[in-house]
Amino acid sequence: MQQVRFEPTFEGWRNAARESLARGLPPEALSWVELTSPQSALDLTSANESHKAAATSSQFRIPRTYIEIAKTVALHSSPRRWALLYHVLWRLTHGESKLLEVPVDPDVIELMQLESAVKKDAYRMRAFVRFRGTRLGEEPWFVAWYEPEHDTLALNQKFFAERFANMRWSILTPARCMHWDGTVITFSPGARKVHAPAGDGVEQLWVEYYSHIFNPARIKPAAMQAQLLKRNWKNLPEAAVIEPLLREAPRRTAAMIARSEFLRVRETDYGLAQPPVGADLQELRSAAAGCRACPLWKTATCTVFGEGPRDAHIVLVGEQPGDGEDRAGKPFVGPAGQVLNDALAQAGIDRRVLYVTNAVKHFKFEPRGKRRMHMTPAQQEIAACRPWLEAELRLLEPSLIVALGATAARSILQTPVRVTQERGRVLKSEFGSTLVTLHPSALLRLPPDKDFRAELDAFVADLRKVRAAA
Ligand code: URA
Repeated sequence: MQQVRFEPTFEGWRNAARESLARGLPPEALSWVELTSPQSALDLTSANESHKAAATSSQFRIPRTYIEIAKTVALHSSPRRWALLYHVLWRLTHGESKLLEVPVDPDVIELMQLESAVKKDAYRMRAFVRFRGTRLGEEPWFVAWYEPEHDTLALNQKFFAERFANMRWSILTPARCMHWDGTVITFSPGARKVHAPAGDGVEQLWVEYYSHIFNPARIKPAAMQAQLLKRNWKNLPEAAVIEPLLREAPRRTAAMIARSEFLRVRETDYGLAQPPVGADLQELRSAAAGCRACPLWKTATCTVFGEGPRDAHIVLVGEQPGDGEDRAGKPFVGPAGQVLNDALAQAGIDRRVLYVTNAVKHFKFEPRGKRRMHMTPAQQEIAACRPWLEAELRLLEPSLIVALGATAARSILQTPVRVTQERGRVLKSEFGSTLVTLHPSALLRLPPDKDFRAELDAFVADLRKVRAAA
């Protein structure tokens, strides 16, 4: 058995894997040895150099999806991940280039499980990091201690930088630490819990905040604990007050929020929706009804939340409610909804088994006389609303998501999508397989040279793929 010595990062592993591939070394001939200790620093430099040299000289066609999955799986804590990654890579490059499309293959199943565990861990971190106020010199600085199960800190850098953009903060974890000085994110080596400040005013603020916003009728310690690992639970300041909260009636939040610099969202700011942790669909719906993360709530009649069975395997995501939906409080009940219903019926899909929702939950329009004309939501509005969609998708865990149009596709895939090019294709998003197709209202706005019948048939053909997948 040959030892492959490599730096245990995605890049380190990739260089070593390329070299091993170039040498034609099959997975069963290799044992993967992480070089991490100070004594191995020398080995590391020479290992990296030799891997790089070999890597540049080798040519393999490796699917992009695999690279994306591998980057995530590399963050998993299982020592087996490197061998598994190489095993799958070997198969992909030795006659099984479509391997990732075989969801029942045991290697693919294991790979997806590791990927999903890392993503869930990153999601959990977003919900459970708690900052404590301290000072760095004269500057207020917020520090959180967090123990992720996997090395998920970097996956959340954009999220924390955006959500806490106006604070200066550090998140300390045992593997490494992430810092935000108001401008850039930087990383430093891991820390220990003693490096983080203990309780203080800000911690007290969190406790107060939770005591205000938690409705005792809705609070679910069991659900929260199911999402949390034990080691995280003990770090939550509010965990200590769950019991008293259950007894205490909720009080008003305004005064407390007004006192808090970092919880305050200025009138002009777009915030991020904050779905309650551990909530079920009904609770998410109620919380979303009061969402003020972007200004669209001011002119809309109501929040139009998703609708459908809790055990739906397929989730349809549209752009935002239209005029009819805004009045009815239900998604896809207006003209676009009629086109959708018609196409679903032709594709042999019963709408009642689907969960139907939108990327943005409020109607955006401009008044024209007595009419309210649809306006495309801005990127900021889509981003502000995304946590609701994310919460819906994480809860439902559908086997297939259908993105109806560019706004939905962008919100789900987090990248601009050309629907005309990608339609009918199943892409991979962080929530799972995502089929991209037209928005039904595109059929209502066809240019005169387009044939409605033919376009509807093409839309129905896309939806038939949904049925096949289901
Ligand atoms: N268009 C959408 O995207 N969603 C609706 O609910 C209605 C129209």
